[in-house]
Amino acid sequence: MKTTKEKIEYLRQMRARLTAGGGEKRIAKQHESGKLTARERLALLFDPDTFQEMYLFAQHRATRFGLAGQELPADGVVTGVGAVDGRQVFVASQDFTVSGGSVGETHANKICQVQEMALKSGSPLVIFNDSGGARIQEGIDALSGYGRIFYRNVLVSGVVPQIAIIAGPCAGGAAYSPALMDFIIMVKGTGKLFITGPQVIKEVTGEVVTPEELGGAYAQEAHSGNVHLVAENDQHAIQLCQKLLGFLPSNNLEDPPEYGNGEVVFGEDPVLDAIIPDNPRDSYDIKEVIGRLVDEGDFMEIQEQFAPNAVIGFGRINGQSVGIVANQPAVLAGALDINASDKIARFVRFCNAFNIPLITFVDVPGFLPGVEQEYGGIIRHGAKMLFAYSAATVPKITLILRKAYGGGYLAMCAKDLGADRVAAWPTGEVAVMGAAGAVNIIYGNEIKNAADPEAVRAKFIQEYEAEFANPYVGAARNLIDDIIEPKDTRRYLSLALESLRAKRDVRPQKKHGLIPL
Ligand code: HXC
Repeated sequence: MKTTKEKIEYLRQMRARLTAGGGEKRIAKQHESGKLTARERLALLFDPDTFQEMYLFAQHRATRFGLAGQELPADGVVTGVGAVDGRQVFVASQDFTVSGGSVGETHANKICQVQEMALKSGSPLVIFNDSGGARIQEGIDALSGYGRIFYRNVLVSGVVPQIAIIAGPCAGGAAYSPALMDFIIMVKGTGKLFITGPQVIKEVTGEVVTPEELGGAYAQEAHSGNVHLVAENDQHAIQLCQKLLGFLPSNNLEDPPEYGNGEVVFGEDPVLDAIIPDNPRDSYDIKEVIGRLVDEGDFMEIQEQFAPNAVIGFGRINGQSVGIVANQPAVLAGALDINASDKIARFVRFCNAFNIPLITFVDVPGFLPGVEQEYGGIIRHGAKMLFAYSAATVPKITLILRKAYGGGYLAMCAKDLGADRVAAWPTGEVAVMGAAGAVNIIYGNEIKNAADPEAVRAKFIQEYEAEFANPYVGAARNLIDDIIEPKDTRRYLSLALESLRAKRDVRPQKKHGLIPL
């Protein structure tokens, strides 16, 4: 019989073994490839001495292909709870040094349990992905494990924020867990995300592509839009995760944390008065406008490389988190295309689910014309924006900076889509379309038959602009609350946000609406 002392010593030794990962050689290989280990990542993520590990002793029960009796430390995933900036966060961190971080029955059970704990306790969930995928030795048990993780990703969705960090391979069906989460942060160089790898693609389609070209951070951010934030390395990914969490509430029943001393700072900014160029064909950088309006110029842009004709991200106004949506006149003149519509609609849904007020900056010539866009389903994709904004019950504030044309005007959260407050700069223009296009349609014959068509066209354009290319018609109809000088925009937004703090918006009961997917 072992004495109590011996039992405690046994526990110590076992704990030391199970927390040692896959051994020195594999840890050295992990470091050589530019990656931190699963535990090093957690040490950086959490406030000092706050991490409490859960399920360390869980072990697989596979008996085949060399796994019988083999101890896998923590079964290849470190799970538990800790504090990020004083707020509780649940975590799973796959350990590539243990069986390649592969997912078997027990590994999946551990992830499922932290998902359930996050749900029960209303705390965000962060998962570090660094894995060879389904554990080959566990066959269907591994696949079933993924299914259970996906199922819980969906249960958790909209209740607590979910952030996936791709810090190594994440291929095949494994990619669907991050895809079901709210934000994907991917590490350049080491992160790889794809459903079928280059080898299979070559066999099936003959296409030749490198793993980086196919599933690297740039490809998965810029081309597919799967990735929301790109990090230079593991440390940077963790910093981005911490910063992102700071904008979000812990769950859907709470408001985001507020920073600052509660003092409302209005601050005039005369630079904004000179932002809009006199020539309507000239562009400007909407990010400069956003940067001048948010606290300390701190704007956390999301999906920067994907659909850059639209800009989305988080900032704060007087300490209050806001979700910002904007057209970017410097890219495609700010027109809305399929990808921009998807990007905006998803972001609006996220902000609405987590009680984050929306501020929308409008300078949009409309939806992008083209056969490719029509065949690609711009109607369905654009409708996602209309749906997302109309369904959103958080405070919605819209500012029209310049063009607000056609469907784009409505899709960028016009008053008729439930915007609570709409302001325009004096440069705002709300119209069905731009002057040049409009006069060709309305006065085509008069222009064609005139002795001097260009002079007649110019006259009609001038008349049209006087009639429509201004914000006063909209203001006269109560569709614009106020026309403000650009320098006073922060004041307007601050007061409007304050006025909407207690907003209530009751909708009819239903199981769920049917967003056009
Ligand atoms: C079991 C695995 C594993 C796996 C890696 N390992 N992947 N063990 N199941 N899926 C083990 C290796 O045996 C090795 O063990 C250790 O992890 C490190 O692997 P290496 O190959 O030495 O590392 P590296 O050269 O860096 O290559 C990493 C890799 C490669 C690219 C991820 O291991 C790989 O291609 N693995 C298989 C990927 C795969 O096809 N997975 C199944 C996808 S299908 P030792 O003991 O030597 O350290 C899938 C379906 C999910 O996931 C479906 C959900 C619906």
